[in-house]
Amino acid sequence: MALTTPTAPASQLPSLARALGNTSIVGLQWGDEGKGKIVDLLTEDFDFAIRWNGGSNAGHSVKVGDKKYAFHLIPSGILRPECTSVIANGVVVDPLKLLEEIDQLSTSGVCIEDNLKVSLTAHVVLPYHRLQDQLSETRAAGSKIGTTGRGIGPCYADKANRSTAIRLIDLLDDTRLKDKLQRIVAEKNTIFAALYNQPAMDWEPIFEQYRACGEQLRPYVTDTVRLLHGAWKAGKRLLFEGANAVLLDLDHGTFPFVTSSNCGTGLSVGTGLPGSAVQTTLGVVKAYTSRVGAGPFPTEQSNALGDKIRERGHEYGTTTGRPRRCGWIDTVALRYTAAVTGTTGLCVMLLDVLSTFDELKICTAYSIKGQRTDWFPADALELEQAEPIYETVPGWHESLDEVARFGDLPRNAQNYIAKLETHIGVPVKIVSIGPARHQTLIR
Ligand code: GDP
Ligand code: IMO
Ligand code: MG
Repeated sequence: MALTTPTAPASQLPSLARALGNTSIVGLQWGDEGKGKIVDLLTEDFDFAIRWNGGSNAGHSVKVGDKKYAFHLIPSGILRPECTSVIANGVVVDPLKLLEEIDQLSTSGVCIEDNLKVSLTAHVVLPYHRLQDQLSETRAAGSKIGTTGRGIGPCYADKANRSTAIRLIDLLDDTRLKDKLQRIVAEKNTIFAALYNQPAMDWEPIFEQYRACGEQLRPYVTDTVRLLHGAWKAGKRLLFEGANAVLLDLDHGTFPFVTSSNCGTGLSVGTGLPGSAVQTTLGVVKAYTSRVGAGPFPTEQSNALGDKIRERGHEYGTTTGRPRRCGWIDTVALRYTAAVTGTTGLCVMLLDVLSTFDELKICTAYSIKGQRTDWFPADALELEQAEPIYETVPGWHESLDEVARFGDLPRNAQNYIAKLETHIGVPVKIVSIGPARHQTLIR
């Protein structure tokens, strides 16, 4: 990847973007790393922004001037009128949420008519998926995953099950939808009554509501595999927006405390494009770590330090409003997630949150049952036992508000970034020092 000067200001983003080729943006921790901000920034110079996994469990924030947007299903490139936003086949689409987002954007004056496309083979989240998600979490008592309750797991389970799945194309055909819903709702009723003592659902109101959603979404629904192959062949510039994050990946995350899609590794499955369509993978990381929901988190600070990070970083969920668990940066996890995704450059976000700490800790290895390891354990139970081994570095007290170039950062902040590069083994391309577009330093 060609680079701009080591201290280029944010105005040089387009030239960085041009040097990237087709680019995949992935979160390398447990989510909420600031992917939305990076996608919004880079799409100034891309033709397509493509969501390919997850659903409305994602919450991607973008700040433009005084206005803050939170995207759950619509790609964070939607604010760029020249960029086509695509919800590809790998996303599970809750039509009610999607229509709500479309409505909110229209009210804010964002034009979406011509530049939003949704895959006809994307699977649909239905009311019984949300219900099952919530009931199964309630029933799990001590072994909750801490899901967002958006029906993501049950919808992907029905996709794998095939006979109980509904795709967007089904919403566009009354006969097909009616036949499916009659059969599927009867099956769900039997299961829900036996497992959760739930009263039976009536298929007809669901049919009426979702056929109406289909009608409203019809103008956006298309064969996105064909669309994306045409765009790729025509040399259009493609930016892929991963949702959730690698440590939440169904296969490569901290199973079972993960989501139900391959958020780090499923780009080809989720779009129908081969891996060769992507030239660059940028990994987005917080300058520290946060996690929402249950599961191991070796560097978590359940103390005043964690509270300070949460308050300085406003670490409350974009989707559920839950307080995020906070802790130090973990380069064992980051070496692993960078390796699994083939990350070639890092975007380090929320560096400003670390101002005012006397010292900062960087986890460089774990001790598990007295054994030192540099590799992230495959089993969440083993990870539960990991004790972080830290390198302590001096912090800085200056505010980063007025910093316009990387070289103007306090010396200790520059050293912190250099340490991360050394421990993770991947160069840092972008440093973010605030939510706004201009609060971005290019290296
Ligand atoms: P995503 O899910 O990865 O897109 O991240 P979220 O939007 O859920 O959470 C990131 C939060 O951090 C959002 O509120 C952003 O507006 C905010 N943010 C992004 N970059 C920065 C930064 O550099 N500094 C600060 N203070 N906030 C940031
Ligand atoms: P973005 O894209 C943070 C977490 C949930 C829960 C687990 C499973 O904004 O980074 P699910 O509802 O997916 O079945 O929940 O995954 N989770 C996220 N945490 N950011 C996200 O998305 C997340 N998407 C899922 O908190 O622990
Ligand atoms: Mg988020």
